[in-house]
Amino acid sequence: MRTQVAIIGAGPSGLLLGQLLSLAGIDNMILEQKSKDYVLSRIRAGVVEQGAVKLLEEARAAERLHREGLVHDGTEIAFQGRRRRIDFKALTGKVVTVYGQTEITRDLMDAREAIGAETVYEAADVALFDLKSDRPRVSWREGGETHELQCDYVAGCDGFHGVSRRSIPESEIAAFERVYPFGWLGVLVEKPPVSHELIYVNHDRGFALCSMRSTSRSRYYLQCRLDEHIDDWPDDKFWEELVRRLDPAAASALQTGASIEKSIAPLRSFVAEPMRYGNLFLAGDAAHIVPPTGAKGLNLAASDVHYLSHALIEKYKNGSAKDLDLYAAKALARVWKAERFSWWMTQMLHRFPESSGFDQRMQAAELDYLFSSEAAQTALAENYVGLPY
Ligand code: FAD
Ligand code: PHB
Repeated sequence: MRTQVAIIGAGPSGLLLGQLLSLAGIDNMILEQKSKDYVLSRIRAGVVEQGAVKLLEEARAAERLHREGLVHDGTEIAFQGRRRRIDFKALTGKVVTVYGQTEITRDLMDAREAIGAETVYEAADVALFDLKSDRPRVSWREGGETHELQCDYVAGCDGFHGVSRRSIPESEIAAFERVYPFGWLGVLVEKPPVSHELIYVNHDRGFALCSMRSTSRSRYYLQCRLDEHIDDWPDDKFWEELVRRLDPAAASALQTGASIEKSIAPLRSFVAEPMRYGNLFLAGDAAHIVPPTGAKGLNLAASDVHYLSHALIEKYKNGSAKDLDLYAAKALARVWKAERFSWWMTQMLHRFPESSGFDQRMQAAELDYLFSSEAAQTALAENYVGLPY
């Protein structure tokens, strides 16, 4: 078998890249280790920057997002009984769209099926070979048989635990990492949200977030310990703890119900440099992870795909590899700024188990400054809505 670009992983980065390449007439095949239903059952991000929306439009997969997505002009930060609204639109002229990653994935899968591009689901033991040659190969097992695909380029879009980054010799890649001493316990519930915008809460008992997927479906998060399990958190206990962390107005607006999904995610900052090895290019979570506090994970996957798709199209249309050579540096410049923002938001809004009195006063001063300074609010807003590509 032969294709121009072999894409590993059918998450948002792999599907978006495949769609943009297919629309430009570049042949590609996606290999995904899980089933389609499994990929669609994962509840993850919910906030989409304007840049990512534009890219979904280019991919002709934004119709439902425009119909069902909720445009948010701002967000709220709560601390010590006070709430400060950060007005994105007034401060930056930009907005964000609340639309679940699951829905984006579904729209991209539908768009891919409509144009007849090929995706292999349940591709086991994917392995990459000859990445430094101009004829890389990818093999996988499917239905007891081993298959092999020859290509010009491999796009490693297979997330943090994927095979692509691990296929790069250790001497050729550097990793930078911070693991945070807590996780996020997330609950999805079929009830209207407490407020029409997101509320990020810094509370003595830990961080909380009131988010949503639609006007009738809410997503809530609580900072939890890393050794906790979802079985330790029956729904009643989750709602009691959330109420404790919310201000009285938010708490009284909260509508609770049976959870339809509950999961714990650890928090990590991670960057692998460079995002290229020979003819293998990494994109999205395969190359970097951010803690979810800044709502940047999915959006960084989109900006990587923007740079990579343009570079591949330039190579196939005009024969120039210049943009491919610049890909890693361009993508990483934006990645590090999103890493900084996500780390800063995490630092400002969570309770760190080992924080000293000094650390806590620094955090309070940071929030007091944010609540009172338009310059500080503008800096938050500019990063939250997404830095330009
Ligand atoms: P992924 O979505 O991870 O997709 C990678 C795909 O590759 C998967 O389908 C996987 O099955 C497949 N794959 C893996 N290994 C192989 C292999 N060996 N062979 C073939 N296929 C393989 N971001 C936010 O902004 N807000 C959030 O609330 C948020 N919550 C999250 C919760 C969790 C539990 C996780 C893991 C991430 C969360 N993120 C969140 C981050 C965001 O979801 C990711 O940044 C985004 O999914 C990145 O997309 P991706 O396509 O690069 O990677
Ligand atoms: C979500 O809705 O899942 C969500 C929103 C904002 C974040 C993180 C997660 O910062």
